[in-house]
Formats: sequence, structure tokens, C-alpha cells
Amino acid sequence: MKHTTTVLASAIAVVALAGCASAPSPAELQAQFDAMMKASFRDEGIAKVDRLTQDAGQAACSTGQAPTAEQAKAIEAEAMATIKPPSDGKYLGDWREGEKLAQNGRGMTWTDKSADTSANGANCYNCHQITKAEISYGTIGPSLYQFGKLRGVTNPSAPEAQAMVQYTWGKLNNAWAYNACSNMPRFGHKKLLSEQQLKHVMALLLDPASPVNAQ
Ligand code: HEC
Repeated sequence: MKHTTTVLASAIAVVALAGCASAPSPAELQAQFDAMMKASFRDEGIAKVDRLTQDAGQAACSTGQAPTAEQAKAIEAEAMATIKPPSDGKYLGDWREGEKLAQNGRGMTWTDKSADTSANGANCYNCHQITKAEISYGTIGPSLYQFGKLRGVTNPSAPEAQAMVQYTWGKLNNAWAYNACSNMPRFGHKKLLSEQQLKHVMALLLDPASPVNAQ
């Protein structure tokens, strides 16, 4: 019995060695992986295989290792440059619509008729606690309950509130501007939500009348 085990172990060692001799280089492995990914998907409705194409930031964030401080700075600067203020200068919509969007996790699927975002939800509860009324939420992101209140926004149109209003707008538009490689979807940048939808979610977080900021 012992003998058989030894023979087997040696056979495995030989196979392993042979494997090493012709091991593909990391570049070859990457090429094989890319080819496998391409072969595994096809265009279907609005969902096109170009979703597999990574921009420079996504590639830097997908290595399995945290970006270096220098890379992170470059990714954040690039993301910051994509953020534009709302076209009419108004940052807040209707928190009730914002709550509906936050609850809704659908969109971007091949059965959607068009790439128009009106069918999309924002899926915020999937990662965040937001109101006290909703007890089912994910915890990948920090709790946003009392967000406006805790950040000192008692009147979102007051001059002293503008820094926080603009930060929140930036975060929703392109979360990487403040945190390279964050798991938070880049709602504005990736056109997951329209400007109006973003304003509604803004109101959910910052309107003093929103249940987020209730006692
Ligand atoms: C897939 C998970 C995910 C989804 C969906 C998501 N977030 Fe986030 N969010 C995160 C993570 C993780 C962080 C913390 C890391 C960071 O700051 O980027 C975060 C951070 C934030 C912050 C910054 C919090 C702070 O203390 O400054 C805000 C604001 C925010 N999210 C709002 C939202 C809103 C509103 C939605 C829906 C429109 C949403 N998030 C959807 C994962 C998510």
C-alpha cells in the first residue's frame, strides 16, 4: 500500500514538473482568458459584448491587488474630471422618487427595450441601509441613515451646505473620484441613471423632509 502511494506521488511530481516546463506566461494566460471571455458571451438586445472591454481604470482595479497610491491618485483625478454639475444647477429632486429608485434593482438587462435609463433602478439598498422603514438591506457600503443630518445639511440650498451637496453629487456620479476602485457603481459616469434620477436619489439623502433624515 505504502509502495503504491510512493509510486503515485512520484508520478504526480513528474506530471507537475512537465507542466512547469511548458507553463504559459502571464501574458499568454491573459490572452487565453480574454479569448475564453469573448467566446462565452454574445450581443443580445441592449447588452453588448463591449461590456467586457475595460477602460484603464477598470483594468488597474481588476488585478486582484489594491492599486498603488500613485495609480489611485490618477484613477481618482480621471474620475473627478468626468463629474459635471446638474445642467440647471439644481441638485435635489423628489425624495419619494429617490426612495423608489433606491428600492429598485432592475435594469441594464438584454430584455430591456432601450438603453434609456428610465427603466433602471438604483439598487442602493442592495449595499446600504438608508431609511429605518426598510429592514432588508446589504452592508457592503456604509449606512446612509441620517446622511444629510450627520453631514450637517439642514438646508441643502444654504451656501454652507454646498460642499457636502457637491460631494454627494460627485459620489453618485462617479464614486471613484473619492475612492479609486470602490465597489460603488458609477451611476452617472456609466449612464446607469439619468440626471433627473440622480437628483431624486440626492433628495432621498439630503432633503430634510426625507425619512433618511427623520428623528
Ligand atoms: C454594489 C454596492 C453599492 C451600491 C449598489 C451602491 N453603493 Fe454607495 N457605496 C458602496 C460602497 C462600498 C461605499 C464605500 C466606499 C466608497 O466610499 O466608495 C459606498 C459609499 C457611498 C456613499 C459615501 C458615504 C459617505 O459616508 O461619504 C454614498 C453617499 C453612497 N454610497 C450612496 C449610494 C446611493 C444613493 C446608492 C444608490 C443610488 C448607492 N450608494 C449604491 C457600495 C454601493
